[in-house]
Amino acid sequence: MNDRLAALSQSAKQELESAVTPDAVEALRVKYLGKKGELSAILGGMGKLSPDERRELGAKANALKTDLETKITAAITRVQDLALDAELKGAKLDVTLPGRGRSGGHRHPVSQTLEDICAVFARLGFVVEQGPEIELDWYNFEALNVPADHPARDMQDTFYVDGGTLHAGFARETPVVLRTHTSPVQIRTMLGQKPPVRAVMPGRVYRKDSDQTHTPMFHQVEGLLVDTKVTFAELKGTLDAFAKAFFGAKSKTRFRPSFFPFTEPSAEVDVSCVFCSGNGCRVCKQTGWLEVLGSGMVHPNVFRHAGYDPAQVTGFAFGMGVERLAMLRYGIDDLRTMFENDYRFVAQF
Ligand code: DAH
Repeated sequence: MNDRLAALSQSAKQELESAVTPDAVEALRVKYLGKKGELSAILGGMGKLSPDERRELGAKANALKTDLETKITAAITRVQDLALDAELKGAKLDVTLPGRGRSGGHRHPVSQTLEDICAVFARLGFVVEQGPEIELDWYNFEALNVPADHPARDMQDTFYVDGGTLHAGFARETPVVLRTHTSPVQIRTMLGQKPPVRAVMPGRVYRKDSDQTHTPMFHQVEGLLVDTKVTFAELKGTLDAFAKAFFGAKSKTRFRPSFFPFTEPSAEVDVSCVFCSGNGCRVCKQTGWLEVLGSGMVHPNVFRHAGYDPAQVTGFAFGMGVERLAMLRYGIDDLRTMFENDYRFVAQF
C-alpha cells in the first residue's frame, strides 16, 4: 500500500505539471481526490490492515491529500495565467493605447462671431433687441428716411412678401418685405421706449444677391445709442473700442465720409488690415485698410418717425455684416463656405 501511495503521488505530480487547461486540472482533481478517486480507493482498502499499519498509512494518505490539494491550487493559478497570456497575445486590441476622445460640438463660426460682437457691446453697456425678419416696408425703408425712389427698394434687391395691404395702425397700404437690413429694429426699439437707448440688434437679413461675396440671407448687427448731447466723437470712440476688442488691441480705425439716408453725417469705418497689419496685401488690395461697417449720427427724420424730438436728443447708429467680420477674422475668402455646412469646413473653428 505504501508503494501504491508513492506511485499515486508520482503520477499525480507529473500529470498536474503537464496539464494546460482549467478543465484538465479539474479532471485530475476528480481522478485523484474525488469520492470515487484513486486516493479514496486506497483508503477503502485500509480495513484489512492492522491498527498500527492503518495509523501509519492513514497519516501518509492525509499528508498526500494535503500535498495534492496545494499542487492542484497552484496548477489552477498556472493554467489561468496561461489562458490570459494566450488571450492577450491573440487579441488585436492594444489595451495600453490611450482612449480616443469624443469631439464635442461647437458654435458655427457665424454664430460665434455674432455672439462675440454682442459681447463686446454688452461690456460697453448695450442691451440686445430683436425684431421680425418679415417686416413692413414702412419700418424697413420709410421710417428710416429711405425715399420712395431709392435704389435699395428696387425689386432687384428686395424680396417682397406682398405688394401692399392695409395694416393695423397704418393710414396707407404698406408692402411686406423680408427685411433688407437690421436698421428697422432701431425704429421698433425707439417706438417701444423713451430715451436714452443703448442697444445692439443682431439678426438675419435678406437681399436678392448671390455670388462669391453675396448670399440671399446673411446676418447683421445694428447698433443705436440715443441720449441728450451725444456727439460724433462718442461714435468714433465707441467703434474704435469695438475694433480693438474684436480685431486686437493694435488695430486702428479710419472714418471715411459716406452716405446713408438714415444718418447725417454718415461715415464708413475701416480697420487696419488684420492680415498685413496695414502694410498692404492681397486681401486689403494694397490699401492697408478693410471696410468693416457703416455708421453715422441718427437723421432727424428718423427720430421724428420714431416719436423722438430731434431738438431734445441726438444719437449715433451703426451696422455691420457678421459674415464679413467672420471671414476677416478667420481668413476665409469664399462667403458660400459659411452656408454649405460641410462638416470638414465647420469643424476647423
Ligand atoms: N443698414 C446699412 C446696410 O445695411 C448699414 C448701416 C449703415 C446701419 C449706417 C446703420 C448706419 O445704422 O448708421 O448697409
